[in-house]
Amino acid sequence: MDCSTKSICVIGLGYIGLPTASLLGTKGYQVTGVDVSKDIVDTINQGKIHIVEPDLDLLVKSAVNAGNLKASLEPCKADIFIIAVPTPFKENHVPDLSYVEHATRTIAPYVQKGNLVILESTSPVGTTDLVTDILQEYGHNTAQDIFVAHCPERVLPGRILIELVQNDRIVGGINNASTKVASRFYKEFVSGQVFETTAKTAELSKLTENSFRDVNIAFANELSLICDRENIDVWELISLANRHPRVNILQPGPGVGGHCIAVDPWFIIHRNVEQSKLIRAAREVNDAKPQWVISKVKEKAERFKHPVIACLGLAFKANVDDLRESPALAITKQLAEENIGEIIVCEPNIKAHKEFNLYSFDEAIERADILLVLVDHEPFKSLSAAKLSEKIVIDTRGIVK
Ligand SMILES: NC(=O)c1ccc[n+]([C@@H]2O[C@H](COP(=O)([O-])OP(=O)(O)OC[C@H]3O[C@@H](n4cnc5c(N)ncnc54)[C@H](O)[C@@H]3O)[C@@H](O)[C@H]2O)c1
Repeated sequence: MDCSTKSICVIGLGYIGLPTASLLGTKGYQVTGVDVSKDIVDTINQGKIHIVEPDLDLLVKSAVNAGNLKASLEPCKADIFIIAVPTPFKENHVPDLSYVEHATRTIAPYVQKGNLVILESTSPVGTTDLVTDILQEYGHNTAQDIFVAHCPERVLPGRILIELVQNDRIVGGINNASTKVASRFYKEFVSGQVFETTAKTAELSKLTENSFRDVNIAFANELSLICDRENIDVWELISLANRHPRVNILQPGPGVGGHCIAVDPWFIIHRNVEQSKLIRAAREVNDAKPQWVISKVKEKAERFKHPVIACLGLAFKANVDDLRESPALAITKQLAEENIGEIIVCEPNIKAHKEFNLYSFDEAIERADILLVLVDHEPFKSLSAAKLSEKIVIDTRGIVK
């Protein structure tokens, strides 16, 4: 079967599903994108997008106009099903697999002999087996008739369309045949290498990558507390330490956000409580950092009656509009709730926010008594300490030179 005759059903049209669906649509596959949100489905069918990602608007428009991508509330029969729904955690950091379960149940009646079902959502070890069990419940013979595999997505928001094609991929099937079929599919559109393994190894590899980063950032965040006490510039310290040929410390920040690095380590911890002490400690160090930033702001605010505190950035990282699990947002909300001063917010990547009025960068700087840099968005990098001499600057990202 060449790709022009293949049909693909992508479940979940968010930051992963929509770029994947539209990329495949422009490569000649017949793609149906499924989402539970009617607004999202309608937006995409108009050739428009609901998220910010460079060039995604052009890709979606082109795939929709060519008739190769349509969005729907309902799945349909297809050769390949790709599940890209959220995998957050519930209370007490227990993985919430309900979206994966629900998505699998909605496609199960449409799956046919010879189909490939791929789980792309970041998943705790054993989730691909769960998908398989559900398909079996619906009478599918996953030992013979249906191929099931996990292929974790590792793209970086802001570079998704480039990385979807260029990144190496890890593909792990529930059996050898599934691994081979899934690997062949990715090789059709990925220019990076495709590595074959088992479903469980593929699941843990993605969790391991993000836990590695979390532990390394926790080390940097811990150094930032030590440096603050010792009155040492942590960014200078790290850049000097990184001159060692085998040292590569990441950067500290106001905490760790997003729905990957701050979430995925818990998927390991949940199943391996006794074995994951370092991974848990890192999570705790990173989760404690926002409170430390808030205490710094309070300390400075004491000098004023009712200071204007300009929070620069709400997103979870630089140059994106994604506010999920964002420490910058959590810090800003708490400062506002505790009425530490007048909180004004500048977030150039979103048009509006339901809780905060947004100010332009210039206006925020102009009005601020305390300037709190929370995200290293590109425009903020023009801040210069010399020009801010009358303001108090708390720079959690080390960008003010
Ligand atoms: N965003 C990233 O940068 C990134 C990177 C790597 C991996 N991931 C992983 O990819 C997965 C998806 O993440 P995302 O960022 O695309 O999430 P998202 O929230 O942007 O999108 C998920 C979409 O799925 C839809 N949805 C939920 N349940 C559904 C169902 N049963 N049927 C159909 N649609 C459903 C939602 O309405 C939403 O539009 C997660 O496991 C995430 O951890 C994300």
